[in-house]
Amino acid sequence: MAELEPISIDGAVAVVTGGASGIGKSICEALLAQGAIVYVADIEQVALDDAISELASLGEAIGVQLDVTDEAATAALADRVIAEQGRCNFLYLNAGVTSGGGGLPWQQEPNDWRWCFGVNVIGVGIGTSAFVPKMIESGAPGQVIVTSSRDGGIAPVPTASVYAASKAAVSCFVESLQHNLISEQTQIRASVFYPSGGLMDTGLYSASRNRPAELERTGSGTGRASMTFDQLKARVAQATGREPAVADLGELGRSAVVSAASREFVIAKDLDLTAGLLHRRADAIGSGELPPPHGLAGA
Ligand SMILES: NC(=O)c1ccc[n+]([C@@H]2O[C@H](COP(=O)([O-])OP(=O)(O)OC[C@H]3O[C@@H](n4cnc5c(N)ncnc54)[C@H](O)[C@@H]3O)[C@@H](O)[C@H]2O)c1
Repeated sequence: MAELEPISIDGAVAVVTGGASGIGKSICEALLAQGAIVYVADIEQVALDDAISELASLGEAIGVQLDVTDEAATAALADRVIAEQGRCNFLYLNAGVTSGGGGLPWQQEPNDWRWCFGVNVIGVGIGTSAFVPKMIESGAPGQVIVTSSRDGGIAPVPTASVYAASKAAVSCFVESLQHNLISEQTQIRASVFYPSGGLMDTGLYSASRNRPAELERTGSGTGRASMTFDQLKARVAQATGREPAVADLGELGRSAVVSAASREFVIAKDLDLTAGLLHRRADAIGSGELPPPHGLAGA
């Protein structure tokens, strides 16, 4: 089948979940800077208000409080975007959380699984089911971009077992999504986004700020429920013996937008390193052995 044309970002309509901070906010900035209308959807109202007042100087940024695990609210957002704009050209399913504990896999609690998979996996499923049929029906070109992680999407960091499992799940899902979008001859395509380029100074390591009370940990737990970026950096420096590289979030957001508009399936930097790790993993699996993990500070 012929390749689809790139999508013009200027004048496009975009929805970004988890858009109020970190990587999602950088994506919103890049979209707005290139002339898109952006619905910034996030669970955290204060961060959302702050983000909208910052982003407003760049263009048309519309804040929507949304919990991506809420089916009715996500369906209402899809209805609203189509009613107001007639299309959604870029759907960034980016909201994500850790499992809130870390540590040994058998010390992760059922609620760690429920929260992490609820947002990272079921949230992606809910967003896909709410938006994609409407995106197809609109007849407009579109791209669905799912933020995965090389932790899990490529190979697990063993101390982040539940999070890694959630990202492996969505990477697998996006492949199926893409196969079906092609075979059904739609104008929509999918991308899997692996943020890379170093450690990221985002709110991910304090994701527990958005953890619902009914999914709190009930036991004593292991590891840290939350840490600052500086604490993370120090931990990685200690584990690896060197100062870790820190990613440029602005550049990351721009590449996630340009690559999505070009309809690239895999959005990532340093794919040669990633491919090297995948080859080593394939060789190990092909020999019936345990594949190598992902390192804390990169491939
Ligand atoms: N930071 C990293 O090192 C890294 C690396 C690879 C992938 N990622 C992925 O990037 C994505 C963005 O994370 P980030 O690092 O920018 O962290 P972040 O905490 O800065 O941003 C995540 C955003 O998602 C929002 N969110 C959380 N739960 C939500 C929910 N239920 N509904 C709607 N919004 C919700 C948060 O309020 C926040 O604004 C996540 O999917 C994460 O797993 C992060």
